[in-house]
Amino acid sequence: MATTESDLPFEALYDASALADFDAATQLGEPGRYPFTRGVYPSMYTGRPWTMRQYAGFGTAKESNERYKELVANGTGGLSVAFDLPTQMGYDSDAELAHGEVGKVGVAIDSIDDMQLLFDGLPLDEVSTSMTINAPASTLLLMYQLTAEQQGIAADKLTGTIQNDVLKEYIARGTYIYPPAESLRLTSDVFAYCHSEIPRWNTISISGYHMAEAGATPVQEVAFTLANAKEYVRAAMAAGLAVDDFAPRLSFFFVARTTLLEEVAKFRAARRIWARIMKEEFGAQNPKSQMLRFHTQTAGVQLTAQQPEVNLVRVALQGLGAVLGGTQSLHTNSYDEAIALPTAKAARLALRTQQVIAYETDVTKTVDPFAGSYVVEALTDDIEDAVNALMQQVEDKGGAVKAIEEGFQKSEIERSAYAIALEIDSKERTVVGLNRFTIDKDDKYEPLRVNPAIEAEQAARLEQLRKERDNAAVTKGLDALRKAAEGTDNVLFPMREALAARATGGEVSSALRDVWGMYVPREQF
Ligand code: 3HC
Repeated sequence: MATTESDLPFEALYDASALADFDAATQLGEPGRYPFTRGVYPSMYTGRPWTMRQYAGFGTAKESNERYKELVANGTGGLSVAFDLPTQMGYDSDAELAHGEVGKVGVAIDSIDDMQLLFDGLPLDEVSTSMTINAPASTLLLMYQLTAEQQGIAADKLTGTIQNDVLKEYIARGTYIYPPAESLRLTSDVFAYCHSEIPRWNTISISGYHMAEAGATPVQEVAFTLANAKEYVRAAMAAGLAVDDFAPRLSFFFVARTTLLEEVAKFRAARRIWARIMKEEFGAQNPKSQMLRFHTQTAGVQLTAQQPEVNLVRVALQGLGAVLGGTQSLHTNSYDEAIALPTAKAARLALRTQQVIAYETDVTKTVDPFAGSYVVEALTDDIEDAVNALMQQVEDKGGAVKAIEEGFQKSEIERSAYAIALEIDSKERTVVGLNRFTIDKDDKYEPLRVNPAIEAEQAARLEQLRKERDNAAVTKGLDALRKAAEGTDNVLFPMREALAARATGGEVSSALRDVWGMYVPREQF
């Protein structure tokens, strides 16, 4: 019998017998109501379309600012900032470890001066901004707040998201700095800070996307993500926060694969599982605390460098799956992403793909169009059961952090990745243009290249900044930050003072590294 990507049975025919035990009242409910299977809002896209949020950023703040303005002019509804690796690892552009990486996979942001350039002329009270930043998320969020305040926009008007999900960095993505306990402390500090200072901000984007890109099946993606989410909730509650004070601002991030039916079922199951966990295990009363709101990105790993235009078709199908699954926000990949950073034309086409789904198809005219479908409801139930079983395995190990320290999630994901690679090699799994329907010679394609002079430019800006600023104020701010990190005070308040005095991101991360040390994964012991 055929199986799904999660290795669950996939019947050739589903009929009424598939839904014999199905109880629409408890398993579905109404859209916008517990357990939110049918979507988090009663009207869904008939009330407001999802946010079209294209992940972008490279080179200097000025270059990225131009790309964002272009995206806004083309009709994008939200911004999504990609940072370069040094910024993500808490190093300034002139640090030795940053050499060769400045501005490569995202924009280089060293200080509040760069942040001001990045958002120059963009209306921060009108757009919502997502920042893909994890270990130093608090630093970049504060730079954003200070930048907005300088534009005359109060913090309580700001909307957006920081990724801030370090647990999945240990599992799949790699940009962690501090050990898990200190990372969770920092996350709880961010939750508390935002509750009082930036109340509309989504404080975390708990992400399965990167695990999926590393090879996780849909069930592993959801199970490991929700297991991480439980760890954040537990840490925040242990730090004394009330669940309904922070849970409404937790958000999630998943992939959309080409296997559309299973993906739709996955999104619906994930909403239902999370609603039950929040209500039954954590006692959340506010319906917003029970709502799993998520961003989706189409599956980069399923794109091919061969015949890259075929990726346009894949992305359209993946984006459609995300929408049929009820996503709140969507990034559709550019067709050339398997080769290099997207060119401006490819980025525009990716956005146009979303616009076709939103404004030319009819899937947005009714809420949760798959409800009651034999196959989708059956798959939703099967995924729910399989996710719950895998989450129980994580619980039995003592929770997500203990399982990470054992290497459990990573090895499970690696096993799935290996199985997929074997299937592609043996042609058991078809990848159009790669192992079937190939051509001898592809058309010529001119990729976008990042200018290597950026590193020297950023270093010169830093030299200037260190000369101009009040260094005594910076030292005072960083000392206060170290002191808070040693104790239990919220570190974000002294961090904000230091950044306002133009401390750099690297200096802030170094101050925390001094106190908290760095995480060394098991395989490096
Ligand atoms: N009826 C009533 N209200 C509605 C509505 C409806 N039908 N639809 C939307 N709304 C309201 C919402 O309630 C919300 O208002 P609120 O803030 O006051 O509650 C407002 O309209 C905005 O809607 P959403 O919250 O649904 O949409 P957003 O776009 O603002 O937020 C999110 C979506 C998922 C919650 C948020 O966390 C988000 O935007 N995430 C994006 C994450 C992201 O872009 N990540 C990029 C990762 S790239 C990466 O990792 C890089 C690499 O390594 C792959």
